[in-house]
Amino acid sequence: MNALNDKVVAVTGGAGGIAAGIAQAILDSGGRVGLIDLDRDKVEAAAAALGAGDKVAAFVADVTDPAGIDAAMKALRDRFGGLHGLVNNAGIVRLGPADETTPEGFDLELAVNVKGVLLTAQAAARHFSDGGAIVNIASNAGKVGYRNMAGYNASKAAVISLTRSLSLEWAEKGINVNAVCPGGVATDMLKSVADFLAPRLEQDRDALFGTMVPAQLGRHIQPIEVGRVVAFLLSDAATIIRGQSISIDGGDTPF
Ligand SMILES: NC(=O)c1ccc[n+]([C@@H]2O[C@H](COP(=O)([O-])OP(=O)(O)OC[C@H]3O[C@@H](n4cnc5c(N)ncnc54)[C@H](O)[C@@H]3O)[C@@H](O)[C@H]2O)c1
Repeated sequence: MNALNDKVVAVTGGAGGIAAGIAQAILDSGGRVGLIDLDRDKVEAAAAALGAGDKVAAFVADVTDPAGIDAAMKALRDRFGGLHGLVNNAGIVRLGPADETTPEGFDLELAVNVKGVLLTAQAAARHFSDGGAIVNIASNAGKVGYRNMAGYNASKAAVISLTRSLSLEWAEKGINVNAVCPGGVATDMLKSVADFLAPRLEQDRDALFGTMVPAQLGRHIQPIEVGRVVAFLLSDAATIIRGQSISIDGGDTPF
């Protein structure tokens, strides 16, 4: 219950669907949360919606901008008087067949989903109070891959590799780095996949969205369920789990 007692955790992509569940789980574990996102109005609304008073604060930064993300991390540490954890959750998906993927679209997906993870981890490592824990939100797409997501699949595979590299090099700084690989979480991102596929498969969008669930679970995964695993990986109880990318997709990916 108090595994993150008073610990301060930065969560990027803080205005998004999964971030809300991650932030709630951190609060439920006794921690405090700095939400970081591109969109000021949305991230401030997300912070207010948690209803946790001064245990939550909102910050604006683009994870692809090294100076901006460093300034946000410093502001967050100054605001709470410390920094102990980071969740690299910001991400985008661009949908389309591999043979129509443009250089610009591919670059953007890798910039946000991979370079953003590295830059934000570097900034957090500079501002951590005394060691820390990092959890990267990869995806089962980085292990198995899906149609119409060549750039996204590649980006999430790179996050899995980056997680191993950072874990290996930063153990000596007292920083533990892991990743989770969700799938089928009920958020706007998954709805955008249904929006893309429905006309192409000549299916009703809402009916199609309803089928996009992990087979063994038979329902969508909820952001709070992702959040609880992330909160555990941020805690001292997870110190012996290092450099791993754990599938949390209701059994869809068997490794
Ligand atoms: N929804 C799923 O089923 C699913 C499955 C596997 C992995 N994921 C991953 O989980 C993470 C969160 O996804 P979600 O479903 O909550 O999506 P979402 O679209 O609801 O949230 C993503 C958030 O990231 C922010 N963002 C985008 N680019 C940014 C940038 N450059 N700098 C800062 N913030 C930026 C957006 O403004 C948005 O608030 C992503 O990394 C995604 O790839 C999602």
